[in-house]
Amino acid sequence: MSLPHSIHVVSHPLVQHKLTKLRDKATSSTNFRRLLREIGLLLGYDATRDLPTVQTRIETPIEAMEAPLLDGKKLVVVPILRAGLGLAEGVTDLVPLARVGHVGLYRDPRTLQAVEYYLKIPQDISDRDVIVCDPMLATAHSAIAAVDRLKESGAKRIKFICVLGSEQGARTFAEVHPDVPVFAAAIDAKLNDHGYIVPGLGDAGDRLFGTK
Ligand code: PRP
Ligand code: URA
Repeated sequence: MSLPHSIHVVSHPLVQHKLTKLRDKATSSTNFRRLLREIGLLLGYDATRDLPTVQTRIETPIEAMEAPLLDGKKLVVVPILRAGLGLAEGVTDLVPLARVGHVGLYRDPRTLQAVEYYLKIPQDISDRDVIVCDPMLATAHSAIAAVDRLKESGAKRIKFICVLGSEQGARTFAEVHPDVPVFAAAIDAKLNDHGYIVPGLGDAGDRLFGTK
């Protein structure tokens, strides 16, 4: 499967191992939550590779030196509610000083269109790197709607991390937002008639929060 250049599949064995555990329907909600957080950290690590740094004068116990520290305003992590919360936990483990914005979206089960019910993001988002988190990129309607809103609010440097994408969703997202790199643990081949990723991992929000 050849994917658009903006789609990055993170093939690290730890990510793949944890993904298999997430897919397994025998995995409990408690373990699902832990695994999602761990994958969030590992995908976040890849997505933050190009954050700018600045050389800074420090003193080690031995001598003075110039060493890199993160430069610029703190990045913003934006989970798409609900399931994005579980993935974002891992990114904020990695970058504890990050700001956190929230986009509330649910998928209408009949039309599969994204319906927005909440938005709260830092006012100065245009000056910050933004990482949007949602475990699932199925039709891509939710991810596209979230990124549309963030761009309308001024965000310029956006990345998207997800656990699983569908091939169709990844292509659609890359067509609409080619400037937004996607970091995914895997891209699955199909969507079913209800817009669920096949083989997928089921309903991420319900498995994360134990609501079904
Ligand atoms: C799920 C998932 C994504 C969306 C993906 O959320 O977390 O946000 O579906 O599907 P799409 O790519 O076809 O838009 P859902 O609407 O089930 O809401 P929830 O997280 O509150 O359960
Ligand atoms: N949302 C989910 O939680 N899972 C899917 O497979 C598709 C959308």
